[in-house]
Amino acid sequence: MSHPIRLLLVAGARPNFMKVAPLMKAVDTYNGCKTSGSPGFEAFLVHTGQHYDTQMSQAFFTDLGIPEPDVNLDVGSGTHALQTANIMIRFEPVCEKLKPDWVMVVGDVNSTMACTLVSAKLGMKIAHVEAGLRSFDRSMPEEINRLVTDALADLLLTPSEDANQNLLREGIGASKIRLVGNIMIDALMANLEKAEASNVLGNLKIEPGRFAYVTLHRPSNVDNPEKLGTFMLELERLGKFLPVVFPIHPRTRRMLASFGIRTNGANQLRLVEPLGYCDSIKLTESARLVITDSGGLQEETTFFGTPCLTLRPNTERPITIQLGSNRLTTLDQLGTDVERILQGPEKLGTVPPLWDGHAAARILHHLAEGIE
Ligand code: UD1
Repeated sequence: MSHPIRLLLVAGARPNFMKVAPLMKAVDTYNGCKTSGSPGFEAFLVHTGQHYDTQMSQAFFTDLGIPEPDVNLDVGSGTHALQTANIMIRFEPVCEKLKPDWVMVVGDVNSTMACTLVSAKLGMKIAHVEAGLRSFDRSMPEEINRLVTDALADLLLTPSEDANQNLLREGIGASKIRLVGNIMIDALMANLEKAEASNVLGNLKIEPGRFAYVTLHRPSNVDNPEKLGTFMLELERLGKFLPVVFPIHPRTRRMLASFGIRTNGANQLRLVEPLGYCDSIKLTESARLVITDSGGLQEETTFFGTPCLTLRPNTERPITIQLGSNRLTTLDQLGTDVERILQGPEKLGTVPPLWDGHAAARILHHLAEGIE
């Protein structure tokens, strides 16, 4: 092939942005030092608009230095069917116009699956970054997105060996699977210096190693009034012992308001707006512990060795438990697990293999190879 490999990268929701940032940068690096004879890459970024608030989207583009998207589908929120269908309807003409050699999707959000379906029907080649993760829990919308995306993708780029095993077990050919490492860690390492310079601790008047960092947004945790109410009571209790920083996701804010759940402001529980990327990384590195239901935070805490309690019955990222600093918990267990962490070591676990900041370079290498 003599023309540059035309790559259409898709991002839609907050957890996608830190995955496309290293890929966009790696394209520039690859093109800057490609050997003569190699066609290089021509990348187009499509933002579906699944997330649209400044704090959920633009703030990440700014923090991570992602160029303005070439196309914004502006789909906004809706039910799963509505959102997925709207993305598909708006993505199809973009593919037909740009005629990419590869469509590259990342993660497991609705945008990932919707764009995969469109591309497959148009006969376009699909590469999935973060392929093979499985929670084995189909009540989780992301699990459906993962299964569909991986069934249709032509190149499955995995973050860890367990993901390869999941794909092989599902009958996906080994020739399509490449273990490339964790793209999230590329973004983290590239922005670590900037994150460490963040003023977020000073702004929140907290000290390193002496606060808890909390995030919660999964429908299974926040869409139920009893569960969300109990969780907030647990946080108030924890706030008697140390400051608790809890940036509130829009879904969680909506649920707190609609259930009429209010916190008593007397303790050290700080409910704040969603944070930018670098501030979140700084909090993750500095926290005494993290309580979360986010996939990304399970990985970022593992990188830093920060003790993490994941409020879920399962995780699609088991390596963060086997090697890293993560542990699953329940609302009943949370208090006991927090106490155990506060009495234990400040850092735990090790960093999994290939979580080394070079996943994006490996991905481009495989893409270039795959098409020749
Ligand atoms: C989505 C992803 C989830 C990911 C999460 C990270 C799916 C199925 N879910 O969940 O995997 O962990 O993003 O944030 O793709 N809203 C705003 N502003 C925004 C975006 C959303 O106010 O910029 C509100 C809307 O009221 C919307 C609700 O948040 O109805 C939920 O947004 P949605 O994108 O549907 O799902 P998330 O819960 O954010």
